[in-house]
Amino acid sequence: MVQFSDAFRQDLAELMRWRRDVRRFRTDPVPGPVLDRCLQSFALAPSVGLSQPWRLRRIGSAAARTAARDNFRAANADALRGYRGARAETYAGLKLSGMDDAPEQIAVFCDDATTQGAGLGARTMPETRRYSVVCAIMQFWLAARAEGLGVGWVSILDAPSLCAAWKTPKDWTLVAYLCIGWPRDDDTAPELERLGWEERRAMPPLEML
Ligand SMILES: Cc1cc2nc3c(=O)[nH]c(=O)nc-3n(C[C@H](O)[C@H](O)[C@H](O)COP(=O)(O)O)c2cc1C
Repeated sequence: MVQFSDAFRQDLAELMRWRRDVRRFRTDPVPGPVLDRCLQSFALAPSVGLSQPWRLRRIGSAAARTAARDNFRAANADALRGYRGARAETYAGLKLSGMDDAPEQIAVFCDDATTQGAGLGARTMPETRRYSVVCAIMQFWLAARAEGLGVGWVSILDAPSLCAAWKTPKDWTLVAYLCIGWPRDDDTAPELERLGWEERRAMPPLEML
């Protein structure tokens, strides 16, 4: 049985403590082998029925990136209109994507129609395919941080319209738009906490049943 040491457990805790959603990137490239090592973490992720429903697209062309950036700008402006007063002022000052600078950008989809896994588990709860994709993204996020890379998850998007612009297969649902690159700075506190948008709670609510 494999055993992990106290030192490893401490390192793992540190990795999670220092993982951040990164929105400010240096523009120098991410070496291919480093990105590949991080992407390999997808294959190690749990998935319902071993369906591995994640599908990735590297958003590299100017057209694909412009579609994403324009979509984000419109969605973000729309979100801002939903706030009033001090909240609106704070929201307007937040940087909510690193799409202008991140050297690597990857869209992660869920193939809702995959036959891999023969429907085990997903027959009763089809949403578990998307949860599986989220599990894999989380592993990727930590693997990237262990390499010193930052990852920023962008969800302020009109996903159906962006998927249409990218001519995405109809059974694929956009789960995440990830900006990836070397972070400009490092912190143990989330940016939204530092800027007074929200506070972290130390422990998850845990009820007895
Ligand atoms: C599903 C998901 C979607 C997110 N979407 C955005 C986003 O659109 N823009 C953004 O700036 N941060 C986004 N984030 C990052 C969160 O704001 C961030 O995780 C949270 O503030 C805690 O900060 P930390 O990740 O640095 O610990 C998203 C995170 C998750 C898990």
